Amino acid sequence: MILGIETSCDDTSAALVSRDGEIHSSVVASQGLLHARYGGVVPEVASRRHLEVMGAVIDDALERADAGLDDVRTVAVTARPGLIGALLVGLSTAKALAAARGLPLVPVDHLHGHVVASTLGAGPIEPPYLCLVASGGHTFVARVDDPRRYATLGRTLDDAAGEAFDKGARLLGLPYPGGPEIDRLARAGDPRAFDFPRSLPGDGLDFSFSGLKTALLYRLRDMGEEAAARRADLAASYQRAIVEALAARVGQALDRKGLSRLALGGGVAANGALRARIADLCDEHGVELWIPPAELCTDNAAMIAGAARFLEPIPYPGYLDLDAAARAPVAA
Ligand code: KG4
Ligand code: ZN
Repeated sequence: MILGIETSCDDTSAALVSRDGEIHSSVVASQGLLHARYGGVVPEVASRRHLEVMGAVIDDALERADAGLDDVRTVAVTARPGLIGALLVGLSTAKALAAARGLPLVPVDHLHGHVVASTLGAGPIEPPYLCLVASGGHTFVARVDDPRRYATLGRTLDDAAGEAFDKGARLLGLPYPGGPEIDRLARAGDPRAFDFPRSLPGDGLDFSFSGLKTALLYRLRDMGEEAAARRADLAASYQRAIVEALAARVGQALDRKGLSRLALGGGVAANGALRARIADLCDEHGVELWIPPAELCTDNAAMIAGAARFLEPIPYPGYLDLDAAARAPVAA
């Protein structure tokens, strides 16, 4: 079995995954509430909490898989990108565990994990496929011809889609993280009540979401007192602008690349309106769609162990001087 460890942001996670992609356990200790009072993730607070709970999370993952460290053949860990202090807690833990047992280690790119999340479990997706990853830190469309790597076709030039949800929610007076809050509030609203800009920069497949929150800010200023009574309509219209921008690029990617399989990943893939819109789009294009269960969309260690299945492990002790990196190398 592969022991996966993921601590790139504010979730401390460990998972046990077998070579065939079966998830034996996946434990996520979310720090959401800890950061909520600050309105966003505080890096130093995140690192400290990872350190406090990492050991217990790994023990829990082993116990739930009915396994011990003797059953672990490989250790996989997120090495980039993410909050550097947070990454270092996971990487140091992984190195220590692997070194103590002479096991090989696989450093994993967090985004690669999101891209291959749909290859886990029963009925896995198989390359070639397109993938939309939309999370709090990243938004991009990728092409996967070989599960060992992915090619980024377009990415956000400014805010991530989840960031747009979170910042919009904050303007609407909703708590952090705002994505699920907007999702819920929007169900009671009219998505066509307000017209928010859908920025699709350039001729490629890039995204841009920073103008959207500014548009909401100005709209709220103009509305004054009336805004409170129209919050559901505002949330639904704001959400629609994000969903339509994501769907437009996915539609273009499907047209241009001619692939017949699509996967979604990242926390925003939990959004009800996005899931419905992308499902319709796939029907129109005759494309098969994979959306992992919510717990595999948001950050988790199972997807990290999952990606490690496709990568070359570094034998002991070659990984001892391995470093974490806050940024991903610019992908092809
Ligand atoms: O993948 P994730 O857990 O962490 C990152 O790697 O960033 O994604 C978290 C993001 C947050 O911005 C959160 O607001 C958003 O995903 N999110 C949602 C929903 N659930 C989570 N956005 C819209 N609708 C949702 N239901
Ligand atoms: Zn993520």
